[in-house]
Amino acid sequence: MLQSVFIPVLYLVSAVLFILGLRQLSHPRTAPKGNRTAALAMLIAIVSTLLVKEVISFHLVIAGVVVGGFIGAVAARRVEMTAMPQLVAMFNGLGGGASLLVASAEFYRLGSQIPDFTFSAIANSIFIGGITFTGSLVAFSKLQGLMRGAPVTFSGQHVVNGAITLSVIVLAILAIQGSMEMPLVVLIIIGLSLLLGYLFVIPIGGADMPVVISLLNSFSGLAAATTGFVLVNNSLIISGSLVGASGIILTNIMCKGMNRTIWNVLFTAVGTDDDGGTVTEADTYQAVKSYEPEDTVVIFENARQIIIVPGYGMAVAQAQQMVAELGKVLEAKGVQVKYGIHPVAGRMPGHMNVLLAEANVPYDKLFDLDDINPEFEETEVALIIGANDVVNPAARYDTSSPLFGMPILDVDKSQTVFVLKRSMNPGFAGVENELFFNDNTIMLFGDAKETVSKLVSELK
Ligand code: TAP
Repeated sequence: MLQSVFIPVLYLVSAVLFILGLRQLSHPRTAPKGNRTAALAMLIAIVSTLLVKEVISFHLVIAGVVVGGFIGAVAARRVEMTAMPQLVAMFNGLGGGASLLVASAEFYRLGSQIPDFTFSAIANSIFIGGITFTGSLVAFSKLQGLMRGAPVTFSGQHVVNGAITLSVIVLAILAIQGSMEMPLVVLIIIGLSLLLGYLFVIPIGGADMPVVISLLNSFSGLAAATTGFVLVNNSLIISGSLVGASGIILTNIMCKGMNRTIWNVLFTAVGTDDDGGTVTEADTYQAVKSYEPEDTVVIFENARQIIIVPGYGMAVAQAQQMVAELGKVLEAKGVQVKYGIHPVAGRMPGHMNVLLAEANVPYDKLFDLDDINPEFEETEVALIIGANDVVNPAARYDTSSPLFGMPILDVDKSQTVFVLKRSMNPGFAGVENELFFNDNTIMLFGDAKETVSKLVSELK
């Protein structure tokens, strides 16, 4: 009775809660609730599984939950917002590694009695899980600076990767047909999948890692779903599929926001070692207008509307609280303040929304690109805080620019544009930004947090 009715119902409840959680996560206002809903779904799924399976040792399970929960909680609490992609990469990698281990363990448990379908599910789970594990470790190492961020390429790289994939398929078929020993094939697939994960990610530049991490997130879901088939566990199949689908949707959104295809990200080895490019010549500095914060106060005070455009530099400077403070000070002076959020500003989806939410900026002041763009023409001041590529006008017309075709925030159409950054160094795409040389642009050089803090005290 428990096995046949109660447990499937609990699995169904958990699946519905997962879907509801995802729905709630799609808006900043309901996102914290979405997190709790999905956590509850996970709890129900775990408890149901513990009820249904013959647990050999509850001590081991509890020890795993305590140790894993502790490490997860400490890592999540300590991580800097700018290091969030690395943390996600690590979590994905562990998910993939867990799928590989569980599927391998199930293979050895079942012995020679393995049905063909189960063996193919095991081979899939090991293959995808292995790629996810080493691929995520490489992504983590590139972002953490433990490995060179620049693409590592060699000739015939894609052919080698294709050959490995093909070999795995052929080996699995041979094992099912009985032409090769299954245990040997499993060991070879484990080795090849771990190698492929490494080879798959090394040619991708460090700066493209967030997209790859999102794709590996999708892989970790697929690995979990195939492990669900191995274990005949509906909850794992459903939750794994949800992760797989949402990861691929997110990857697509990120690629669209950068006006690139996933093939371009994966196979063209774009990217530099870090976010800056070469330091530009002193002449470049002379060609731009640069003010001190105290010289700009009058312009801010006389504005009717100011649109703040945050970018990656705001995250680096951890300037979000100061920016929120500046918004309040300006509003107290009767200035209308809005925030223009580009879909790929920063280094991960929703990066700016999360930072501004952390600083308690009301959601109704945050506007998407399509909603805010028509307003720039009517706006006295566009205040750019550590953004670069997402406001580069070359994206509109320069076909030779890597940014060509990317939708940008039309800040150059406002009366005055203030740009807060430390130098004339380029952003992620490594290209110069002509916006900085426009007549209506004023550069405020320095760390964004310090500059905004000076602006706040001057305005006060
Ligand atoms: P970027 O173009 O990367 O520019 C960031 C700017 O911030 C840099 O030019 C840098 O100039 C400045 N900066 C860094 N630290 C600073 C500090 N402490 N104080 C002040 N300024 C600082 O950023 P963006 O405009 O947000 O564009 C994001 C880019 O990342 C896009 O090209 C996008 O395609 C790419 N990308 C985004 C994602 C997602 S999902 N968001 C994923 C992958 C790639 P200085 O060094 O001169 O200070």
